[in-house]
Amino acid sequence: MSTQPSTGHVTVDVLLTPDDLATMLRTDVRTGLAKSPKSLPPKWFYDDRGCALFDAITRLPEYYPTETERGILLRNAEAIAEQSQADTVVELGSGTSDKTRTLLDAFAQSGRLRRFVPFDVNEATVRAAAERLAQDYPGLSVHAVIGDFEHHLRALPTEGRRLVAFLGSTLGNFAPEERKDFLSQLAGILRPGDSLLLGTDLVKDVGRLEAAYNDAAGITAEFNLNVLRMLNRELGADFNLDAFVHHAFFDPVNEWIEMQLVSATEQRVQVSAVDLIVDFSNGEQMRTEISAKFRRERVEAELAEVGLHLTEWMTDPAEDFALSLAFVD
Ligand code: SAH
Ligand code: AVI
Repeated sequence: MSTQPSTGHVTVDVLLTPDDLATMLRTDVRTGLAKSPKSLPPKWFYDDRGCALFDAITRLPEYYPTETERGILLRNAEAIAEQSQADTVVELGSGTSDKTRTLLDAFAQSGRLRRFVPFDVNEATVRAAAERLAQDYPGLSVHAVIGDFEHHLRALPTEGRRLVAFLGSTLGNFAPEERKDFLSQLAGILRPGDSLLLGTDLVKDVGRLEAAYNDAAGITAEFNLNVLRMLNRELGADFNLDAFVHHAFFDPVNEWIEMQLVSATEQRVQVSAVDLIVDFSNGEQMRTEISAKFRRERVEAELAEVGLHLTEWMTDPAEDFALSLAFVD
């Protein structure tokens, strides 16, 4: 790990260098494209262009989660600050940390806030967010971490009483087994007094769920296809973006949105950096993301399974989205 000073009150721990990322990408591509059905882990969406596209998604009229979660945060931030008694806010998969400002405002007003720890795989996004936050919250020490929350939770700073925020329903992007593993690792690093603030999108009308992942402006399709653009750039692949189609639908058995790239023709793709030749049949589906939709019982049970006790379940009036506050038992 290298700790690099930055301006103001910002420090940045780099747990994942560009070389580490390149190695991980090669492994994931070799594994994911050799499997049947083919799949790619969702973390590879988030290169700089992918982060900008996700930011655009959060402003789409069809994509209700971001604004709904912001509303819940606005209504409950003060109570969260009071109940958690935290002086340190850690945010996993923090991205721009835009919504998190609502939380930081309430913590700052309580007079307790000392430290903010944004943690994300995309270095440019975290650095930019960290600098902006340090400027806007004088006296706040911003300790940013560039890492992978599936591997580096144990390297998180341990100072202070921590509230770990995992917002946006990013938890839903894990497959069920990975989700269990992640929650267990997360519970393992929390100490008595630390708390978890978890955002989860809820099961609802299929029409609204599917519209959120099939926006009229086509931004989600661009976000999905961006992963192929990234493979072309990073691994010298020759994916033809016009020969793959964005497909997103609700799977009612698993209660998740599944996002795929569907091959529009029979085609062969070369990924030269990993010496891979990949054949796609006409109509073949490659899974690029799942986005699980939750019910209270499932969230409560999965938290309890790893020794976390749900103390507050906060929703919007339509019960589209929920924020859970949980403590170590
Ligand atoms: N929390 C923000 C952003 C959600 S987008 C919100 O609620 O709007 C998901 C974020 O998680 C992206 O910024 C992405 O870079 C980050 N991310 C995805 N996989 C990750 C991983 N394995 N480790 C760390 N960050 C990851
Ligand atoms: C970050 N994550 C929770 C988003 C989601 O809704 O699953 C990513 C996303 N994919 C398509 N649109 C948004």
